[in-house]
Amino acid sequence: MAPIPSSDPARIQIDAVTLQRGGTRVFDGLSLVLEEARIGLIGDNGAGKSSLFRMLCGLDLPQSGRAEVCGLDIRTQRARLPGVLGLMFQNPDDQIIFPTVAEELAFSLQARDVPRREARRRAADFLAERGLAHWADRAVEGLSQGQRQHVCLLALLMSAPRVLLLDEPYASLDLPGQARLAADVHAGAQQVLVSTHVLAHVRHFERVIWLDAGRVRADGEGEAVCAAYEADVAARTGVR
Ligand SMILES: Nc1ncnc2c1ncn2[C@@H]1O[C@H](COP(=O)(O)OP(=O)(O)OP(=O)(O)O)[C@@H](O)[C@H]1O
Ligand SMILES: [Mg+2]
Repeated sequence: MAPIPSSDPARIQIDAVTLQRGGTRVFDGLSLVLEEARIGLIGDNGAGKSSLFRMLCGLDLPQSGRAEVCGLDIRTQRARLPGVLGLMFQNPDDQIIFPTVAEELAFSLQARDVPRREARRRAADFLAERGLAHWADRAVEGLSQGQRQHVCLLALLMSAPRVLLLDEPYASLDLPGQARLAADVHAGAQQVLVSTHVLAHVRHFERVIWLDAGRVRADGEGEAVCAAYEADVAARTGVR
């Protein structure tokens, strides 16, 4: 991954946020400071992991409280957020807009003010560097779910924001894709937040947050938080 384009460490601050989605109050006074380089986000379906990521991108704004990403207020400086953070959506079809792979990748740069022609050239180079030159003109529609997820990841890696939000990024990737992503996450200079149900992907992280119905149930070193979640799941399900 490309280095962080600033020497300041990335920092996210969330203060007393209330977030309503449809008829559900997802967060009710959530506060967090996120400044570690690798942070895992775990918890049951509906716990609020995707909602947290969407809010940090300014896609869903809180009804009260405030949040800042690298000093940018998500409400008042929303338009500048793509310059500092990028989200890999849980569902690739929520992310992909353009018909071909090269156009989709180029757009991630154009969103960061790279001129179109330059963006197309860099997209082609980026694919070629990864042995995927033949993907450039492929129709996204003709790719499998995992391949589309891979395109989303490539778009994000290429634009190299200071903060990467990866929402269930391993869900559809094949084993080589998972191995490459784990290596990218490990080696990258960016701050990376990963939501996942596969605890092995975050257990070794310096920090893991367990969300439970929109609240922080545990927050600390990855090994301990994952073990606490597993114990709770075992107690609830009776399955060990
Ligand atoms: N599109 C939506 N419209 C309205 N409410 C939603 C929507 N998506 C999610 N919610 C609500 O927000 C709550 C949190 O959902 P969210 O998608 O953030 O959970 P999650 O932790 O990402 O779950 P999963 O593990 O299934 O991805 C859910 O309980 C649901 O009620
Ligand atoms: Mg989710």
